Amino acid sequence: MKIVIIGAEGRLGAALVREYRDKYDVSGFNHAQLDLWNLDDVREKLRASRFDVLINAGAFTNVDLCETERDRAFMVNGEAPGIVAEICRQKGAKLIHFSTDYVFDGEKRGPYTEEDEAKPISVYGESKLAGEKNVLAADGGHLVVRVSWVFGPDRPSFVDGMIKRAQENEKVDAISDKFSTPTYTHDIARMLPQFFDRVQGGILHFANAGECSWEEYAQWALDCCHEAGLSLKARTVGALKLKDMSSWVARRPVYSVLSTEKYAQLGGTSPRTWRDAVADYITRFYSKK
Ligand SMILES: NC(=O)c1ccc[n+]([C@@H]2O[C@H](COP(=O)([O-])OP(=O)(O)OC[C@H]3O[C@@H](n4cnc5c(N)ncnc54)[C@H](OP(=O)(O)O)[C@@H]3O)[C@@H](O)[C@H]2O)c1
Repeated sequence: MKIVIIGAEGRLGAALVREYRDKYDVSGFNHAQLDLWNLDDVREKLRASRFDVLINAGAFTNVDLCETERDRAFMVNGEAPGIVAEICRQKGAKLIHFSTDYVFDGEKRGPYTEEDEAKPISVYGESKLAGEKNVLAADGGHLVVRVSWVFGPDRPSFVDGMIKRAQENEKVDAISDKFSTPTYTHDIARMLPQFFDRVQGGILHFANAGECSWEEYAQWALDCCHEAGLSLKARTVGALKLKDMSSWVARRPVYSVLSTEKYAQLGGTSPRTWRDAVADYITRFYSKK
């Protein structure tokens, strides 16, 4: 099976390339090799490539910058995925396109299912929702996988930032009134292949199990680091409130936990908990023991 990955040097794309290298015939385009902002480039490169499955992990992911660069957001996250999807349809290939929990407004207080109405409150969320719609309009057999709070070794994310701050400062804080679920790139890579050659199309939510605030996420990470023998100046995480984040430009959903019931029904297994996934990550990549 030949797999091509767009966004191959991003946090998720790089993990997918690494995990699939030994099992499949995999190649990737990094941003410089294929620019989703340049539709002629997209058409030319993809028409010249041969693949059975195309995975789009490329996106304009800077949530605040999307507010001021709306045209770029809608082109990269919205229009380009539709073009990619159409090329895949013409080639008889399956597209797996990644999307986000930020398509929801955060007003719900229970996990969002695939049937819940997406009502984004940011340009990033709007542009990603446009991308989902364009992908599925091109071919209902394509798969849109929404994930949340992605972390992994290939590019630093919130958890790595918190660990670094706790190594350098006696006091660290994180937001205590915003909730979703951390999701490990390794777990995404492990679950995805079951959808490579299956008929399953449409929208699918995937996240590690459970839910937490950023404060709880950071506290667990520091506890795991302590357990792993890493020296930290800060051992506890203080609470910040969303309203204190005056530097944020974009609005973010307060609650964006994704229900993985559909995934569990299709795959026959439930994802491991976010605590187990974070502990595994820290043991593998931070442990001093
Ligand atoms: N990170 C999260 O917490 C999170 C949460 C929910 C959903 N997601 C979704 O998961 C997917 C993967 O995100 P990630 O966490 O891996 O983010 P990431 O590390 O920012 O990766 C995105 C990749 O896309 C590339 N890219 C940006 N603009 C591009 C363009 N015009 N053409 C081609 N490539 C371009 C980036 O390259 P450069 O860096 O070189 O520009 C980067 O390699 C995205 O669809 C994102 O919306 C992420």
